[in-house]
Amino acid sequence: PAPAPAPALKIGFTAVAKNKNDLVTVPEGYNVSILHALGDPMHFGDESWKDDGSEAADSYNRRIGDGHDGMYWFGMSDAGAFDAKRSDRGLLAVNHEYVVAPYGLHPAGRAAGATRNAAEVEKEIYAHGVSVVEVKRDGANTTMVRGSRYNRRVTSATTMDITGPAKGNALLQTLFSPTAVQTRGTNNNCANGYTPWGTYLTCEENYLNVISRAAGDDALRSAKEVVSMNRYGLPQNRKSPYLWETAGTADLYARWNSSVTGAAATADYRNTINTFGWVVEIDPFAPDSTPAKRTALGRFNHEGAWPAEAVAGKPIVIYMGDDSRNEYIYKFVSKANWDAADVGKGMTAGAKYLDEGTLYVAKFNADGTGNWLELSFGKNGLDAANTTYAFANQGDVVINARIAADILGATKMDRPEWGAVHPTNGEVYMTLTNNSNRVATTATPTGSQLKPDAANPRYYEDMKGTATQKGNPNGHIIRWKEDAADVTKMTWDVYLFGAQSDAAADVNLSSLTDVNDFSSPDGLYFDKRGMLWIQTDDGAYTDVTNCMMLAALPGKVGDGGVATAAGGTQTRAGAKASADTLRRFLVGPKECEITGIAMTPDHKTLFFNVQHPGEDTAPDWAAKTFGSYWPANQTDTTAKKRPRSATVVVTRKDGGEIGI
Ligand code: FEO
Ligand code: CA
Ligand code: CA
Ligand code: CA
Repeated sequence: PAPAPAPALKIGFTAVAKNKNDLVTVPEGYNVSILHALGDPMHFGDESWKDDGSEAADSYNRRIGDGHDGMYWFGMSDAGAFDAKRSDRGLLAVNHEYVVAPYGLHPAGRAAGATRNAAEVEKEIYAHGVSVVEVKRDGANTTMVRGSRYNRRVTSATTMDITGPAKGNALLQTLFSPTAVQTRGTNNNCANGYTPWGTYLTCEENYLNVISRAAGDDALRSAKEVVSMNRYGLPQNRKSPYLWETAGTADLYARWNSSVTGAAATADYRNTINTFGWVVEIDPFAPDSTPAKRTALGRFNHEGAWPAEAVAGKPIVIYMGDDSRNEYIYKFVSKANWDAADVGKGMTAGAKYLDEGTLYVAKFNADGTGNWLELSFGKNGLDAANTTYAFANQGDVVINARIAADILGATKMDRPEWGAVHPTNGEVYMTLTNNSNRVATTATPTGSQLKPDAANPRYYEDMKGTATQKGNPNGHIIRWKEDAADVTKMTWDVYLFGAQSDAAADVNLSSLTDVNDFSSPDGLYFDKRGMLWIQTDDGAYTDVTNCMMLAALPGKVGDGGVATAAGGTQTRAGAKASADTLRRFLVGPKECEITGIAMTPDHKTLFFNVQHPGEDTAPDWAAKTFGSYWPANQTDTTAKKRPRSATVVVTRKDGGEIGI
């Protein structure tokens, strides 16, 4: 007899109500526990977190960093090899995006003054980056294995290789690596990716947070360099908010000053800016391996890097977003075709698939078709004769990918955040979190303002408390289906529009209700069953509810037909949502972002991150009054400890699969 068909996937929990509690709220029948939080020691020999900021700077090379963000679960065999099917033992790689504003790292916040304290800055440098920890599940308990040989920190000081077309490029020369083959540090690692051969991809987003440039620097540079600096948001006379370069003349601090200070690029750090904005590959199974900046994937404010399902004999395909207002969506297609024999080959496989390939940028047409425009030196006018920017070689194209994409006329999006690829039909989803720079179709745009277009169709005004927010404050999720025969073509629609449930019908286009309304989609993840998980960041709805995570069953491209959005723009709409296709799974503590999703392959353990709880409230260190007391208060509701970013473990009390 034929095997019985698999039962249809259904969302099976009771929706969590919107709330402003200082807790993680999950559905009835679910448990939460904390895997690790800022400052937890990963090895033996360092003291436990003391909640007073007294930990030594150097100990952060062995402690969990700050600002938990993207992450990935790598199942691990008894022999210590990558095993994608393993659920009870694995390595969890977590991004530590940034040092959170209240500075829980230090005894009483950041010391005042225009010159930073050297010990504070050193601690902040080590609190950024990535942590890799071994995790084991034993019955109902999932815990970090303290002291595991795999536990590792990658920080803003870790030595990395530069590989791909920009390796050796003059624009990456530094005093540290005059031949431009290495650099140090990965910074502001937002979302992530992973590879079928078992490595982690960590993505450098808001690296301008820690890079400064001096007044008068333009006059010391070529015209081309000035065009590039300005396009990437580092005009001359710009000080970073963190001011790391002010902490001393030692290389650890001085290299954050991306100004001309020496006789040549090999004698200073004028090119620091060009050493960030990359996708970095880390082999979690080889703790001594050197991470690599894979430059073929382009330089921009990388949110993450999401692979399509690998198919034997076909290229590796990776989707990426540039998270800034009016920036682009990209795709990388490897030159080498996938060979499953490369599983477990670590950085060697990374070099094979990620150092050679073709970079494309997306153009979304009003009729629901789309084009991938090729960013290759010598094609589409990307050459030395270009009057906007004279490209010297492919290294120059990837270093200045934004400029190349401008020249090709790619579609400027409402801040591309996370992507996710459907596990069975291969359709690609990407969150567009919000954009305050959209203006009404009747307005005359000034500066970088844009009118709505088909793929970014909304301009409206929305209230947050007593404040009016304009543009596309609630965001949306776009999706596309690749053409089966032509790598440069796709079709697309809008899957879902964020909105308050009580918004007007031409704003609440997806008919959201109390059980599923949300704002500012950011994190996105498909589990292997095809359930889509959506997370939110800050946004226009925090007067009503803390940030959240929802489960969705999204259908497919073309489900909804055409809609008319606020502002009168026609768009390819998705299907309307219902409680059966979109439901709120959890709500986080106060003043946090919910971000980062990983799930064990048996779907019985889910990990997510709470980033920057309490971020919006200035702490009173003496009185110990903070904007949030999470995570200590999750188990002891009277605890008055510092808020910390943390990884949360969710399981079902009956041991079943999450979400169904
Ligand atoms: Fe770090 Fe785009 O969020
Ligand atoms: Ca994000
Ligand atoms: Ca965000
Ligand atoms: Ca945030």
